[in-house]
Amino acid sequence: MTAVPPAAQTRTMSTAEAFQIPLAVAESYEATFVPRMFQEWAPHVLDAAHVGPGTSLLDVACGTGIVARTAVDRVGDDGTIIGVDLNGAMLTVARRVAPDVDWRQGDVADLPFEDGTFDAVTCQMAMMFFPDRDRAVAEMIRVTRPGGWIGLAVPASLDAQPAYRPFVDIAARHSGPEARALLGSYWNCGDADELVAGLEQAGLGPVDRRTRTGTATFDSSDALVATEVESTPLIERIDEQTYARIRSDVGEALAHYTTPDGLFEIPFVGHVVGAQVPSAS
Ligand SMILES: C[S@@+](CC[C@H](N)C(=O)[O-])C[C@H]1O[C@@H](n2cnc3c(N)ncnc32)[C@H](O)[C@@H]1O
Repeated sequence: MTAVPPAAQTRTMSTAEAFQIPLAVAESYEATFVPRMFQEWAPHVLDAAHVGPGTSLLDVACGTGIVARTAVDRVGDDGTIIGVDLNGAMLTVARRVAPDVDWRQGDVADLPFEDGTFDAVTCQMAMMFFPDRDRAVAEMIRVTRPGGWIGLAVPASLDAQPAYRPFVDIAARHSGPEARALLGSYWNCGDADELVAGLEQAGLGPVDRRTRTGTATFDSSDALVATEVESTPLIERIDEQTYARIRSDVGEALAHYTTPDGLFEIPFVGHVVGAQVPSAS
């Protein structure tokens, strides 16, 4: 999850400034995180948003564009696809990988589209980064036509993560309870009941939800620890011995996730939600 560390946000920065990342980080996100973690969620999010032939689709917080790219064959020649992200570097990679898709820079809190423009809006693994989630949902609803669908995927809460939870527990045991908050923001949208209640309150319905277990693959357990710890301020608060103890204990506790070919494959649990914008009466 290093590509867009929520810890990069500070009170003195605008949301757009806080999310700008170097191009190399966006390239690395595309080369590793997309195939090793996020790609498998895209068809489920598109199903949740009822995307099919002829759909006009907006993919919000598109990153390097995996959901939009996965939709190309589904929507066919009669469909249209636009990907929007706050981050210029993510969009540079998206344009390189799929030059034929329409990629635009924009903030989910203020989407640059007329009311009711799209049949479907998707947002995969990004809601937890939005400072004003209600506003984001309201914007997604505004740009979707009456009767259209919104499809979301979010990581489930930390308690529901069979591998990430023990990792965070070990980090907190060695470095203090603040580790939990520092490593925890990725999971803060993961209460499915709360998420669905928020969508219903915003006027969406019916709301379908499904919890599924995907896989996150790392080169080793050390690589998992490095990815998570070094993308947060936790790395500045621990000394080398503490860091080594975290790596060692995580390696031991999660050894059973090492595959015969030496990779480290852990479960990554998420919620996929599809919600319909009410038809105009
Ligand atoms: C973990 S990535 C997910 C990207 C993509 N949906 C995927 O599945 O690979 C989160 C994305 O949310 C974007 N993002 C964060 N806040 C945003 C906002 N307010 N408006 C638009 N995009 C935002 C980031 O720039 C980043 O590309």
